[in-house]
Amino acid sequence: MQQPQIRQTLPSKTPLVIAIDGPSGSGKGTIAGYLAAQFNLAHIDSGLIYRQVGLYVMDHHLDPDDLSAKDEEVIKDFITTIDPKTLDADARLRLEKTANVASKLAALDWIRKAVNQWLYAQVDNPPEGVVGYVIDGRDITTAVFPNACAKFYITADEHVRLERRKKETLEVSSHITRNMNERDRRDATRKIDPLTVAVDAFIIDTTHLSIDEACHNASQCVTERCF
Ligand code: DC
Repeated sequence: MQQPQIRQTLPSKTPLVIAIDGPSGSGKGTIAGYLAAQFNLAHIDSGLIYRQVGLYVMDHHLDPDDLSAKDEEVIKDFITTIDPKTLDADARLRLEKTANVASKLAALDWIRKAVNQWLYAQVDNPPEGVVGYVIDGRDITTAVFPNACAKFYITADEHVRLERRKKETLEVSSHITRNMNERDRRDATRKIDPLTVAVDAFIIDTTHLSIDEACHNASQCVTERCF
């Protein structure tokens, strides 16, 4: 993959946000990482926050389908303690069972609110040297940062997304097919902030694109819309 060129100048003092949504395996994480490197921005994969909460729930033997008011309080407290520097530190975050619990939790209004608060806290208080963010997830363009300077919806045919997901993991592939379909269905049909295409999103279908082509298209759009 060609090396991204680092760009330093940014338009305002307010941290710049590039928002990216799309289903699993669409390539949104790869594009987000590329844009972050090219434009010298920090990257937050918001799915990892839901996965962190999923791990917390599993580690504390809580039932994601039946959380009490007390559970709600401890989980909300936990979310405030999540450290952006170690968001990806635990290998168990990538397991299918963690993703499945995360997807169930992501349907809960109070969890979504707490995660969004966490995201706003990061963007409002960027660490020294961070001038903007690339944030990817399912509702970033539509609900969390609807005023982002560039908004993307990344997609790909279902079989291509499944093949990409299977390549990333050592887990049994028949489980992955069933789980991913189930999560995608849940993420797109839940009542609160389901995955949808924002009206002003730049849509990239990566089914027949190389990583270079997809990243180049996204990068051109950012240059036009944010700089
Ligand atoms: O992108 P991912 O597979 O790591 O996300 C884990 C789960 O969290 C997935 O079911 C979608 C959900 N999610 C969400 O509802 N909203 C986001 N902004 C990010 C992820």
